Amino acid sequence: MCGIVGYLGNQDAVSVLLNGLKRLEYRGYDSAGVAFLNDGSLKVKKKKGRIAVLEESLNSQNKRTTIGIGHTRWATHGRPSDENAHPHYDCTKKFAVVHNGIIENYAELREQLQARGHRFASETDTEVLAHLIEEAYRGDLCTALRDAVRQVRGSYAVVVLSEYHPDRLVAARKDSPLVVGLGDGEYFLASDIPAILPYTRNVYLISEGEVAELTLDGVRIVNSKGEPVAKEVFHVSWDADAAERGGYPHFMLKEIFEQPRALRDTLRSRITPWGDDVVLKEISLSPEDIRSFTKITIVACGTAYHAGLVGKYVIEKLARLPVEVDLASEFRYRDPLLDPRNLVIVISQSGETADTLAALREARARGCRVLAVTNVVGSSVAREADEVIYTWAGPEIAVASTKAYTTQVLVMYLLGLLFARERGTKTPAEIAEIIAALQKLPGQMEQVLEQQDLIKELADKYHACEDVFFLGRGLDYAVAMEGALKLKEISYIHAEAYAAGELKHGTLALIVEGVPVVALATQADVLEKLVSNVKEVKAREGTVIGICLGNNELVDGTSDHVIRLPESPSLVAPILSVVPLQLFAYYMAAARGCDIDKPRNLAKSVTVE
Ligand code: AGP
Repeated sequence: MCGIVGYLGNQDAVSVLLNGLKRLEYRGYDSAGVAFLNDGSLKVKKKKGRIAVLEESLNSQNKRTTIGIGHTRWATHGRPSDENAHPHYDCTKKFAVVHNGIIENYAELREQLQARGHRFASETDTEVLAHLIEEAYRGDLCTALRDAVRQVRGSYAVVVLSEYHPDRLVAARKDSPLVVGLGDGEYFLASDIPAILPYTRNVYLISEGEVAELTLDGVRIVNSKGEPVAKEVFHVSWDADAAERGGYPHFMLKEIFEQPRALRDTLRSRITPWGDDVVLKEISLSPEDIRSFTKITIVACGTAYHAGLVGKYVIEKLARLPVEVDLASEFRYRDPLLDPRNLVIVISQSGETADTLAALREARARGCRVLAVTNVVGSSVAREADEVIYTWAGPEIAVASTKAYTTQVLVMYLLGLLFARERGTKTPAEIAEIIAALQKLPGQMEQVLEQQDLIKELADKYHACEDVFFLGRGLDYAVAMEGALKLKEISYIHAEAYAAGELKHGTLALIVEGVPVVALATQADVLEKLVSNVKEVKAREGTVIGICLGNNELVDGTSDHVIRLPESPSLVAPILSVVPLQLFAYYMAAARGCDIDKPRNLAKSVTVE
């Protein structure tokens, strides 16, 4: 997820661009850049680091310019660096582009372009757009952009500035957001509304497949067929802060609702176009390597650790390979039994958690291959691991991790499928069936999110409770652990997750009248057992909130409240069943007036022991 801006008008374009980029830093902040016309020639200035670093480098920029584009990056392809920052030039340096999204077929496009003599200056997927526009250009910038994006598979919001057309900007979008700001004699383009709020509250929301051309005479929008589109003006009533949160009251709620997009982005280009196999080109584990591993050890902290718990169940189920999961703070001091035939997987949203980084170093010191799953390109964990798989969740601002968790879990499934294929423990048909279930998840998650009001009602009813228990068996137990942490860390309610079969070995003593117990009941093979545990709770007058797949009369008949998830195979249920728990925690904390995005005593990334 990156932030893009464009400006055309009568103000100093560079200052408008920088101001807009600062308001989009929540969309990405590992590098930034601007392109503008100076005495008719196209200039690009871009720097690794925050926007302040770019601003510093621009101080020597002394010519006033009234047209430009800008970008603040959250790296997906190519580490954060000056060269990989946007904007990107074509070979002739007559075109500059900024892009938000992921070009799935960039590798083949790059190869074809290089074979036709194009020279690349970066490792990014975006740069192919600049060269495609260069090739397609026959005098009309808008047509060139339309021809270029027609060759692209993936997601994009792209803005183009050309030296040949000092009077206009052109832009296109597919799957990534883009708005046009309508000022008084000036026009704006941006990924998101906050960037343009200081200048105008009147915008056009660009729709899928549309291309916009901005000149001082106005804005012309065409659809993918080139037909003119008449747009309604959308008047923005949010204040700047609310706009940064996309209109949501908290970043956490915004990020919960971003999960379908984050899942789609993380899946993108990691499944064959015909959807029958997993493709993890970013790792160099050979089939022999995969077959040679005798054990996998997953190491992480907090929510990432809970994603690892799901990973254990999933990888063992699919690849029949022993998987142990350990807290990084324990692993690093327990003199772990490891040898070079072990694969160690470290999971970390920030890629900077001290305990996880120390565990990674411990594993490498013992000769293990280390694979990192992280959300931050170029983070310490990414740099020090042998292999890296990125979650493409975009920046996660709220301390309570949500979209990072579900995308980490998704990567666990992809690894499980890869290992199952190479170890021959699942047939191609079985693999394709699981992939089909994974590809349905973003849409199914959108259905789950539609139940937010029901979940809010439950939170309003139970937010005064001082103890909540989460029960589950198998994969549901792993998700119950995450549900308990979410509730604890933002509502400050004591919450505990328990293996449902373990309840009667002690904790049942704490279940008395009115104590809420969230029972996850998505695992068909142990459903009856889970329901009997729920009956144990009911017999002690506990209050049960059941979470199940579809219409499950077993759970209906025993729970006080039921949250139904779309029918899906039990194996992939965790990515859906965690969402009601995230929303429950959010609304419990909201009802208790807690500081949801910045809970007391906690930090987003624990970079100390
Ligand atoms: C999760 O909601 C917490 N904020 C915390 O447990 C977090 O998951 C943990 O600190 C690990 O962080 P990392 O993923 O950045 O390594």
